[in-house]
Amino acid sequence: MDRVILTGIKPTGEVHVGNYIGAIKPALQLAEQSQSSALYFIADYHGLTFLQDAKEFSRLSYSIAATWLALGLNPEQVTFYRQSDIPDVFELAWILSCVTSKGLMNRAHAYKAIVDRNDESGLDKDTGVNMGLFTYPILMAADILLFQSNQVPVGKDQIQHVEIARDIAEEFNKKFGDTFTLPSYSVEKEIAVIPGLDGRKMSKSYNNTIPLFDSPNNLQKKISKIKTDSIPPGEPKDPATSSIFSLYRQFAMPEQTEEMRKKYMEGISWGEAKRELYEVMNSFLEGPRRKYDELMADRQNIDRILYEGARKARAQAALTMELVRNRIGRC
Ligand code: ADP
Ligand code: TRP
Repeated sequence: MDRVILTGIKPTGEVHVGNYIGAIKPALQLAEQSQSSALYFIADYHGLTFLQDAKEFSRLSYSIAATWLALGLNPEQVTFYRQSDIPDVFELAWILSCVTSKGLMNRAHAYKAIVDRNDESGLDKDTGVNMGLFTYPILMAADILLFQSNQVPVGKDQIQHVEIARDIAEEFNKKFGDTFTLPSYSVEKEIAVIPGLDGRKMSKSYNNTIPLFDSPNNLQKKISKIKTDSIPPGEPKDPATSSIFSLYRQFAMPEQTEEMRKKYMEGISWGEAKRELYEVMNSFLEGPRRKYDELMADRQNIDRILYEGARKARAQAALTMELVRNRIGRC
C-alpha cells in the first residue's frame, strides 16, 4: 500500500515569511518529491478553540487556503480539503475520546502550559480552557488516524500530539483488534529559524513579522525597519550575524547569495543591503501575491477546490469508518 503523508494547517494569524520558510516551503517540497499520497488540510475546527469571531474565522480560513494555493500547492497532486467538510473526523473523534484516558490529556504540553501559567498567576488552573482546547489532541488523532496516515510532518511543538495519536491508535487496536496504522511524525531538521525585524525569531507573538502578501510598499517599509548595528558604509560586515543576509539567502539564487557575501566583505551599506533584499523578496513574491489576491477575490473558487478535495478525502475516510464501526459493534 501507498505511504500516506498527512498534515493539518491551522488558520492562525497573517502568514509571515518565517511560516513560509519554516513550514510551507518544506511541506510543498515534500509533496512535490514524494511518491506517496499526500493529504494537506485546513484545520479550521482546531482554530475554533481560540478563534471565536465569525468574520475572522471565515477570513483566516480562506486566507490560509489561498496562501498555500498561491505558493504552488497543486490540488491535483495533493488532496487539499477543509477539516470541517469531513463529518467522519468528528464521529471518529468521539469514538477515540471513549478509549482515551483523561490523564493522557492532562499530560499534553499545550494544556499543561496554560495550567502552569494559571497557577503562577494564582488563578483557577482551568481558567480560559475550553473543552475543545482540552481535547484538542483527540481531534488531531482523528484527523491522522482516519486516513491511516504513516507520516505526519509537523513543527517541533506538535511532536507530542502525533505521539498521542499513536498511543490512542495502539489503545484502540488493543481493545478492538488491528484497525489503525500507527503514525510517525517527521520534523525538518535543517530548517533555519528566520529572524524578525528585531533580530529575535520572527513570530506573531513578538510583533516583529514581515507578512508574506503585503503590498510592495509595505514590504519595503518593513524591510527598512530591520534592526542593524552601527557599522558604517565601507567597513566589512559579518553575513553570519545579519538578519538581512539570513533573509536574503532564502529568496536569492545561490550565485546572488555569494555575490552578496562579497559585498558584505567590501562594506556594503545597510541601506543598500536592505534595498537589495527588497528587490529579491519582491520579485519572488510578485507572482504568488497576484495569485493570492485573485484567489481571495473569488472565494467560491476556493470552495470548489476544497470541496473537490473533501470529496476525495471522504471516499477514503468512509473505508476507515466502516471498519471502525464494525470493530466497535455498531453494525
Ligand atoms: P508564530 O510563531 O508566528 O505564532 P506558528 O507557531 O503559528 O508561528 O508557526 C507555524 C509554523 O511556522 C510552524 O511550523 C513553525 O515552526 C514555523 N515558523 C514560525 N516562525 C518561524 C520562524 N521564524 N522561522 C522558521 N519557521 C517558523
Ligand atoms: N495542531 C496542528 C498545529 O497546531 C494542526 C493540526 C491539526 C495537525 N490536525 C493535524 C497537524 C493533523 C498534523 C496532523 O499546527
